[in-house]
Amino acid sequence: MHVIAFNGGPRKEGNTSTIVQAVLEGAASAGAETTEVNLHHINMKGCQGCLSCREKHGVCAQKDDLSPDLEAIKTSDAIVYGGPICMYRITGQMKLLVDRMYSLAAPKKEGRGYDSQVPEGKKFAVVVSQGAPDPEQYGRSIRYLSGNDRHAVSGFFTGQTRVHTDNVTLTV
Ligand SMILES: Cc1cc2nc3c(=O)[nH]c(=O)nc-3n(C[C@H](O)[C@H](O)[C@H](O)COP(=O)(O)O)c2cc1C
Repeated sequence: MHVIAFNGGPRKEGNTSTIVQAVLEGAASAGAETTEVNLHHINMKGCQGCLSCREKHGVCAQKDDLSPDLEAIKTSDAIVYGGPICMYRITGQMKLLVDRMYSLAAPKKEGRGYDSQVPEGKKFAVVVSQGAPDPEQYGRSIRYLSGNDRHAVSGFFTGQTRVHTDNVTLTV
């Protein structure tokens, strides 16, 4: 089993990293091979709007450090999204990833909507860290990333399992 985690926090030893690494350690102790991608520390760009993925489904034409990790979303068994809440939403680094994931959805041949180019049956987890005590702040971002939102990223993943890490005490 391969678990890939995307960390959208800028701080290598920040709160998000603490949580993401705890998730990966748990997966590793159960025998999984794990990869953590620190989005802030790789050379990546956002979607360039070339729409080549509308012709070549599932493939992003932008080639940079993120390219192998986008491919790994299709081949791994589980995906973890980790990020701090930033200005009431996700970080810019995480949004770059989300935009690049446009390439993993192909328009349906008939009617509206998209067909995921990610094979079915993957597990999916979202972990977030925030400063404010208001749960609605992370709630909005989790809904965006993981479900109960028409535009949710988890629309790419069928057969998902969601894990929310509430009640974790961390120092800022
Ligand atoms: C630019 C910036 C914006 C932030 N915006 C929010 C916010 O809107 N809501 C919130 O609860 N925390 C906010 N925070 C606090 C971070 O979410 C929190 O400190 C988090 O634990 C940082 O994660 P890290 O240690 O992985 O960097 C913000 C922090 C920064 C640096």
